[in-house]
Amino acid sequence: MTTPSTALITGASSGIGRALAQRFAAAGHALILVARREAALQELAQELRQRHNITVTVIAHDLSTTGAAAALMQDIEAAGLEVDILVNNAGLGFNGAFVDSELPQIQAMLQVDMIALTELCHLALQGMKRRGHGRILNVASVAAFLPCPQFAVYAACKAYVLSLSESLRHELRGANISVTCLCPGATATEFHAVAGNEGTLIMRMMDSPEMVAEQAYRATLAGRGMIISGWINKPLPFFLQLLPRSWAMSLAGRAARRQVA
Ligand SMILES: NC(=O)c1ccc[n+]([C@@H]2O[C@H](COP(=O)([O-])OP(=O)(O)OC[C@H]3O[C@@H](n4cnc5c(N)ncnc54)[C@H](OP(=O)(O)O)[C@@H]3O)[C@@H](O)[C@H]2O)c1
Repeated sequence: MTTPSTALITGASSGIGRALAQRFAAAGHALILVARREAALQELAQELRQRHNITVTVIAHDLSTTGAAAALMQDIEAAGLEVDILVNNAGLGFNGAFVDSELPQIQAMLQVDMIALTELCHLALQGMKRRGHGRILNVASVAAFLPCPQFAVYAACKAYVLSLSESLRHELRGANISVTCLCPGATATEFHAVAGNEGTLIMRMMDSPEMVAEQAYRATLAGRGMIISGWINKPLPFFLQLLPRSWAMSLAGRAARRQVA
């Protein structure tokens, strides 16, 4: 695929999504930025237009509502835009026991982390297939490799994202459309404040969103299947295979538990 092409990035108002937008912009891609916080998106868009002389379209959208993906794609079509690269980055998680969690929080997580992501893949793929090219980057997590007590629904969502991405990649062989799944470890973003991770071991060592975005960008453009960002996280799937599953889950649960000061 020749640059510039248009990348749709969800969750671009902060963290990894914001860093991805900066990385794609530096390479000359036109951007469609999506999240709920319009002011943050507009500010980023203005900065990227000035710095990189690219076209940036902002669409403020809540992906936690039913039918959000279809409505977003309609807005994109109405603006006369096409999605060459889909970056499904928007996501959230909540730290806590499943039984004590609020059902609306769980529903929002399922909707954003899985349903909107799946629907956007399906909708964007129609145009990609017609045009004969495309790239998808789905953001999962190292939590995709293991059930994670305290993050039960989040880890299950991310396992789904990894599984879906790998299947789609296989189905699309020969179609000139690549599907890459990014699995970051703990990364210094607003995710942890939203999730309520303060005081957990997860926050002891975190990667920078810029490093994660750089590795993800390269993997996407190279058409790689899966990228685990951060050197310390890369051997994780290998080590997890060596441990009894119940031990590995206990370790994951301990890392997610808030420490008493
Ligand atoms: N940080 C980590 O340690 C870590 C590790 C592994 C994987 N990840 C994954 O990385 C991705 C990015 O997270 P991050 O770490 O960069 O966290 P972040 O800074 O909290 O960013 C999350 C992004 O998702 C957007 N978002 C959340 N709910 C939304 C909704 N209902 N509709 C539309 N957009 C929504 C947020 O924008 P608005 O609030 O403006 O809507 C924000 O732009 C997520 O998929 C996360 O699961 C993060």
